[in-house]
Amino acid sequence: MRILIVGGGGREHAIAMSAAKCSRVDKIYCAPGNAGIGQIAECVPIGAMEFDKLTAFAKETGIDLVIVGMDDPLVGGLVDEMEAAGIRTFGPRKNAAVLEGSKAFSKDLMRKYKIPTASYENFDNAEDALAYLEKAKFPVVLKADGLALGKGVLICRSLEEARAGVKTIMLDKQFGDAGNRLVIEEFMSGREVSVLSFVDGKTVKTMTSAQDHKRAKDGDQGLNTGGMGTFSPSPFYTKEVDEVCRRTIYQPTVDAMAAEGREFKGIIFFGLMLTEDGPKVLEYNARFGDPEAQVVLPRMKNDMIEVMEACIDGRLDEIDFRFEDNAAVCVVLASDGYPVKYEKGYLIRGLDRFEGQEGYYCFHAGTKQTEEGIVTNGGRVLGITATGSDLKEARANAYRATEWVEFDNKYMRHDIGKAIDEV
Ligand code: AMP
Ligand code: GLY
Repeated sequence: MRILIVGGGGREHAIAMSAAKCSRVDKIYCAPGNAGIGQIAECVPIGAMEFDKLTAFAKETGIDLVIVGMDDPLVGGLVDEMEAAGIRTFGPRKNAAVLEGSKAFSKDLMRKYKIPTASYENFDNAEDALAYLEKAKFPVVLKADGLALGKGVLICRSLEEARAGVKTIMLDKQFGDAGNRLVIEEFMSGREVSVLSFVDGKTVKTMTSAQDHKRAKDGDQGLNTGGMGTFSPSPFYTKEVDEVCRRTIYQPTVDAMAAEGREFKGIIFFGLMLTEDGPKVLEYNARFGDPEAQVVLPRMKNDMIEVMEACIDGRLDEIDFRFEDNAAVCVVLASDGYPVKYEKGYLIRGLDRFEGQEGYYCFHAGTKQTEEGIVTNGGRVLGITATGSDLKEARANAYRATEWVEFDNKYMRHDIGKAIDEV
């Protein structure tokens, strides 16, 4: 089988690594990929939003399966275009990817189908949003409707902050057209958990749970980022919580999408808050999380391609999911200054230390191959993942391995998985 993966971050590196282990896979291409992916796949210099070039490449190359890793091409309809060109593709079509592409859509869906989530209102102009805030209870959460690299959410503690937030999103358009509509929602407190699932339109099967660390700095300070590190499983995601989520969230979401004529096939990533009133949905994503994929996929024992094909063919009910009885921790090595302003182009040393080290993974996010070697090429540079028999061992292993690589302006959080100590 020939596989084409669309994307070029740590998540796509983890997907490529899982694909490489699958028995029927002969060759992997990745567009655009990165330096690490290039060691196990052939990178093709086509951007994830260049749909015509991607479909032409897939046709010419005889690709048997396309896997779309990133949100933008999914929301933009790449799956529909590939299918129209007769190419089998894993991921939701445009009318289903809206589950992630529009927060206003997903909130309305949850309200209509009584799926537990924070109470909210949607707004399409700043005047109405500002008027609503006069009567709101603080803190409130402002969310740009569209995709904003995980940065379009503002938690506002006062009326003043919220007014400024409405201006930032709707008037100054800091997140572009994503801010044409705004969701204002109730602030929830509790533990956050990410649960990634495969969906075939009818059946939903969850993978093991994970927890992300979205803020840039230790102690959950600083700005929201794409994610600075993850651990899996989450000790707070108990059997009882799982049972409630299955009944009130997972299957109802998949059924709701089907009832709306938006059959969802692909990955649904449930971002959950475990509140005092039970688990509630923070957000949906229509793809693997990054860096959730970097801790979940290495623990998966199934043949990933087989699972993806079962999703496409609507026979996911025939597959039993199997995960290693261990734990994994991923620490992101970033460029100092991320997510605002950072420099690129620094040589990365020590990458060869990972060779032959079982249970250790160095997933590339923002890296580039140059004549001098592999250099930094983004805000998030590498995802260092290690497994262990339990979370504490995995965490110690992951932090040890962060010392193996060096580059100028290397930055990481030192408290990934700190919550484990509270268990
Ligand atoms: P989202 O992109 O919707 O997951 O939001 C990014 C982050 O903002 C989440 O991971 C939470 O930490 C936080 N957040 C989002 N919505 C809420 C909410 N209603 N209450 C509290 N925190 C929230
Ligand atoms: N790590 C969060 C996300 O992928 O959206």
